[in-house]
Parts: sequence; C-alpha cells; structure tokens
Amino acid sequence: MCGIFGYANYGVGQPIQAILDTLFDGLQRLEYRGYDSAGVCVDAPAGEPGARCPLVIKHQGKISDLRVRAAEVLEENTLFAGELYSTHVGIGHTRWATHGPPNATNSHPHVNGPDGEFVVVHNGIITNHATLKPFLAKNGAVFVSDTDTEVVPHLCEYLWKKRGGKVSLGQLAMEVCSRLEGAYALLIRSARYPNELVACKQGSPLVYGLKRRDPAAANGATNGDATGRDQGGAVSSASRLSASLLGAGGAGTEFWLASDSAALLTHTRDVVVLEDGDLLHVDAYGRPHVFNSLAMTSRTLAKADMADLEVKREGRKIEAEVESIMKGGYDHYMQKEIHEQPKTLADTMRGRVVLDGKPFKPVKSSAPDVIFSGHFIDPCESASLFSGSNIAAASGAEGGFELPSRIGGKKARAKEPTPAGALFSGALLGAAAAATAAPDKAAAPASAGFMEEGIPAAGESEPFIKLGGLSDHVEGILRCRRIVFIACGTSYHACLVARKTLEEFAAMPVVVELAGDFMDREAPVFRDDTCVFVSQSGETADTLRALEYAKAKGALCVGITNTVGSAISNATHCGVHLNAGFEIGVASTKAYTSQIVALTMMALLLGADSRAKMPKRIAAMRALARLPDDAREVLELDASMHKLAEQLKDAQSLIFFGRGYNFSTALEAALKVKEVALIHSEGINAGEMKHGPLALVDENLPIVVIATQDAMHRKMESVIQQLLARSAKLVILCNTGDDAMTQFEGRGCTLIRVPRTVDALQPIINIIPLQLLSYHLTTLRGFNVDQPRNLAKSVTVT
Ligand code: F6R
Repeated sequence: MCGIFGYANYGVGQPIQAILDTLFDGLQRLEYRGYDSAGVCVDAPAGEPGARCPLVIKHQGKISDLRVRAAEVLEENTLFAGELYSTHVGIGHTRWATHGPPNATNSHPHVNGPDGEFVVVHNGIITNHATLKPFLAKNGAVFVSDTDTEVVPHLCEYLWKKRGGKVSLGQLAMEVCSRLEGAYALLIRSARYPNELVACKQGSPLVYGLKRRDPAAANGATNGDATGRDQGGAVSSASRLSASLLGAGGAGTEFWLASDSAALLTHTRDVVVLEDGDLLHVDAYGRPHVFNSLAMTSRTLAKADMADLEVKREGRKIEAEVESIMKGGYDHYMQKEIHEQPKTLADTMRGRVVLDGKPFKPVKSSAPDVIFSGHFIDPCESASLFSGSNIAAASGAEGGFELPSRIGGKKARAKEPTPAGALFSGALLGAAAAATAAPDKAAAPASAGFMEEGIPAAGESEPFIKLGGLSDHVEGILRCRRIVFIACGTSYHACLVARKTLEEFAAMPVVVELAGDFMDREAPVFRDDTCVFVSQSGETADTLRALEYAKAKGALCVGITNTVGSAISNATHCGVHLNAGFEIGVASTKAYTSQIVALTMMALLLGADSRAKMPKRIAAMRALARLPDDAREVLELDASMHKLAEQLKDAQSLIFFGRGYNFSTALEAALKVKEVALIHSEGINAGEMKHGPLALVDENLPIVVIATQDAMHRKMESVIQQLLARSAKLVILCNTGDDAMTQFEGRGCTLIRVPRTVDALQPIINIIPLQLLSYHLTTLRGFNVDQPRNLAKSVTVT
C-alpha cells in the first residue's frame, strides 16, 4: 500500500519535464499499490541564476491526474523554460489512504514547513505518530495533514536544530529512524542538504538501482562539483565500458529508488534490495553509502561513528523482461495475467516436476509475450533460490535459507539424504501402471506430451518432485505436529485447496488460518508446528505479523511467495517461489493458480514415502505436466464467458456453490466478482446449502454450481436437483464429456464445460473461466478492472 519512487541524477543534465516524466512513469508502475492521490517534489528555479527551491505538486486522484496538474504548474512558472538541471533529486508517492481521507493535503510528499527544509515520502505506518505529534507540536511544529507521515519531516527539523545543524543527512535520518516505530520505507530530501538523498527501510520494501553514463556524453554536465571530475578524478575507461556499476556512483550517475523492482526495470536490471535497518545516503556528488543501524538505540546512535555502521549490500539482477510489466497487447493487466496462465503454471513447475528422468518442460510453447526468465537459464531448480540473498537466479547459486539459532537439531537432521525420487521403489511400478489406467476416478484422456509417454518401465527413472528450497526441511516437516497454513484473501483460498491436498497425499493434520484472525486470537503455535505463509506479494502485513509471531514461538516457518527478496521470503526459514512473474492487476489471478501448483508439489513431496498413495501421486504428477495444455484449452471459453457476463452484468447478487476441493473455487470466484465487478457475491460450501443459504434461492438469483467430476460429483448433482426444484437460475461448471450434466441443459441451465484433470488440480482449471467471467463483468459494467475501488495490491497495514 502506497508506492514511493525517487530519481536522482548527478551531472547528467536534464530539463524538468524529463525528470518529471521519469518520476511519473515510475509511480505509474507502482500505482497498483495505491491510487487515490499522488505527489512529487522537484527543484524549481528560485529567481537568481542557479538558485533552487523545492516544489511540491500534489493531487487527489491518479498519476495521470498529477501529470496534468504538473503541466499546469510548469506552464504557470516561466522560469522553468530552458532550465537544465545538471544535478537533481526528485521524489514521488502514490497513496492508498490510511490516516486521513484522500485529498491533496494528506497526499505525500510531506514537508515540515513552507520552505520544505525536509521533504518526505513514506510507505508504511508510523505507529507512534500519536506520541510524537504533541511532542513536536510543543516544540514548534505546525501540522497540516491527518497523516502519520507528517511527523517525519518535523522530527528531522527538530533533531537538526538540536544538533545545531552539525550533522550529516545520513546521520540525521538514522537518528530520526531510531525514534520511529512501525513500518516504513522513506525517501528524504532537504533544502538544507542540496542534491543529497536518503532512503530508509524498516518493514516496507525498498530497492534501488543505479547506472552510470559516460560523463563526457552526459548532456549539460556543467556543475563542477557534481561531475565528480573535480572530486574523484576522471572516470576510468573501465567504468565507461560498464553500463551498470552498483556501488560506484559519482559523476554521470542516475539513481532510481522504488517500492518494487518492477518500477526500475525500464532503467536498470541491477538493483540492491535494502534490508531492514538499512539507510542509503547518496551524497551531493552522487556517491552511495549504505548503513545499517539495526543494533543501535537512539542513545548509542548519537555517539556512533557512521563509518562503523557502513555495510555492503550485494547487487542483484532482476530476471524479468521489460515486457513482463507491459500489457502486451491486452487491454488490461488482469486480462493479460489470466491469459498468461498456461505459461505461468509451467514456470512454477519448471525443473521441479521430474517425469521420465526429465525435468518438466511445457509440452507446447505458449505465447511468449511475457518471459520471467531467471529460472529458465539454469537447470538448477529455482526453489533453491528462496533465500533473500539469492535473487541472482541466473548465477544458479544454491542456498536455502535457515535460521541456525532455531533449528540446530533440525539442521543437523536436514543433512541426511532425502531424495524424494529415491522414495519411489521399482517394486511399485505395477501399481503405478494401474494408476494410469484409472487415475483419480476420472482422469482426462491423454492429450499430448508426457501423458502419452506413460508410466516408466522397470529400470527407467520414476517421476518425482524436486523442491530445492524445501529439501533440507522435508524430514523436519514430516515430523511436525501439524501444518498450519496462514494467509489472506486469495492466498488463503489457495491454502484451502492445499489443506485437502496434504490430507489426501500426505495424510498430515492441517489447519488453515486467515492471518488477521490468527493474530486476533493469538492462536497457540507450538515448537513442533510447521507454519506455511502463502503470499503473492510477500509483504502482506497480517501475514508478516503472523510469521513473526510463529517464528518467536519456535515453529518452522515456510514461505510460498511470488516475490524474491520480499519480507516473507527473507523472514521464513525456507520456501518455494512461484516464479509466476510480476502480477500487476490488483485482483490476483495467475498467482492463485501458481500457488495451488506450488502447494500441490509440496504435498506430493511430503507424501513421497507413502506406498499406498503412489498410484495417485504419479497420476497427479502426470496431470501437472498436462496442466498448461488444460489451461490453454479452458481459456478458449473466453468468448462464452463474455456472453455469460452480458447475461449476468445487471445481477444484484451472485452465488457460487462448491464443495471439497472446489469450496475454494466458490470462495475465490465470489471474491473476484465482488472486488472487480463490484457485484455482491458469495462463495458457499454446498454442504451448507440446506443449513440456511437455500432460503435465498428463487428464479431471480443467479447461482453458479461447480460440479466437476471429482469426489464430490454425486453430491453436487444432488445439489443441482435441489436447486432446480426451487426454480433456481443455474450456471453449471462441469467437465467436458460428463453426460450426467447434459440433462440440465434442457432444464434451463447454462453449462460451462472444462477439461478434466485430477481432483487436486481441478480447482485450477475451474477458476479460470470464472476469472474470465469476473473480468468481463467488470468491463461490461464500466469499472476499472486493474484498480478496483478502494483497494490496493499489497496490503501493508494490519
Ligand atoms: C484478491 C487479492 C487479495 C490478496 C490478499 C493477500 O484478488 O489479491 O485478496 O490475495 O491481499 O495478498 P498476498 O497474497 O500478497 O499476501
């Protein structure tokens, strides 16, 4: 929630419009984090040649509105004409309101007074703002907004005065941070420290990247100080050759800072992901220094030598193509992300499902409009890159993440070999062959690729799942008292699927918790629990808080996230990355199906030593391999879903019934419809229908019944009969070739036919047409599908 973006150029020389465009473009990439108001701070010419003053432009609404407002301001201020900024620091913000309504006053940047001695943008929440505010007011601060953030520039000013101005911007910001509680990513610029920039991180994400142009080629690099030639000598030819020099800086350097690496992708792929307690100080010559003060208190900090706090942070490569943050020919990100699923499902499995001795490769090539390339390059299984310190996927570096303090014993045990593949014994191949003949009650007919290859004959290698990020922990997880899944929203729905998959394949006791509720109850967690935190963004505050809580109780914490280097992937002991690529539409679609795949792989891995389950397991692995093709097939329903949306678009309410694995499908479909199409919608466990919801049923209420041929098929057929007996208006989602459902066509029902897969994966196939339905409902109703009202993608407040 809220996105911050900074752009600083040293000796590059740019007109204000170019600087503003960079800020606006960056903010637009972060708009999914909040879009109710926005603002920037840049330098304005101050009359005297070369003199400058900070100019803050804020506006209620989206970045596009702010662009218009900025154009008006520039038109009014004729001094801008012809001004070339050799060196410049600009910061910006896109807001999702937490404290105070969305309006220009409450939007960021916030300043400590009309002269803007300190100017701040902030993502997060300062929880002790109510204590700081009266203290600062007593010391002369005048507050104008309702926000928590406004305490920060005032605190800067207060401490600056207290130090008689004899303090570096870096040290000052560090002292400020030591007095803040809560979560923050801050960018601070100051008229007292021209051309300097500070970025601080605690709890909220913050990355920066830099690129050094050849100063000789840098347009208008006329400022002697800032070119670095006067300060640091000529830039070496080696550095001229290098397009990207993390850690170098100086003359000709541009810096970009953002809440999310997606906003940097069009500028640089080399980024530094700041860690909690980090402070980046870029001095007036464009030289970056990172300090960390996590171990310091405000008392010890005042006496600390900054040089002792300096740390080195490794640069990382963003392994994604620029296309991955574009709409790629689609009208909306949500639409693109729904259609990407054949590919993203394959990417989640890549190198992890090993069939016939070969790591999984998609059977057909999918439209490569988006390539999240990192883990393609190296056959090294990408889950092993879960540790936050290993974003450099292309290097193929191994390294699960583990907290030695917690699991000394487990760590030792983890060294025992646990080759999942080896758990399949040749003696069981007969059973496996039987599974192929009748997998999971009603498997889909063999289509292409791996399915046709059949079960391996004796001597051939057996299929297995390889999750490098978990491999050291499989035994520990198997020994645990229970698995507790903790997540919010759509990710919670994926956990509901996983509960059943783990029960089915690994016979483990599983509990699923909504992160917020889990913390409200302060639910008991035991040392021998395994807690699995599932989050697309990896930064959802409720989930993160639950993670800290479970970790403190000594549980083994596993992360399933889509964001490498996110707070959740850094804080968990081990985990699996989804590799589904950036998800930009606020409504989660492709991440949900990839979460189910990742959790299914985890269940198959954990159940790998069950002989009785082997036939099922092999069928599931073969179905995984076929899944991208199934997803491609179900996407062909797009036009039918558009037609259905035309019929349903004026409905007051929409009900989804499902049970078993597809209770989650009902909940997820209802969430999609309510959050983007803004139609009241409920997902109901069909087993509960007679316990109340049946009273709602009449000939007007549209009901979608999920009745695919899984273990619940018979029961769902009976639900349909009971609903039809009450003249219900039904849409039935059923499998292609399910003759039992054909009868209902004649009784006024609309049938959506989807391919059959194994029970555990059917929710993936079933949700896709319903995602399409919610997408079309939204566009037909004329709402913003990518930025639904009142929502933001990363919910970083509790
Ligand atoms: C709904 C949606 C949200 C998120 C929830 C958790 O479409 O996107 O319900 O699923 O806010 O977010 P993550 O998965 O990032 O923790």
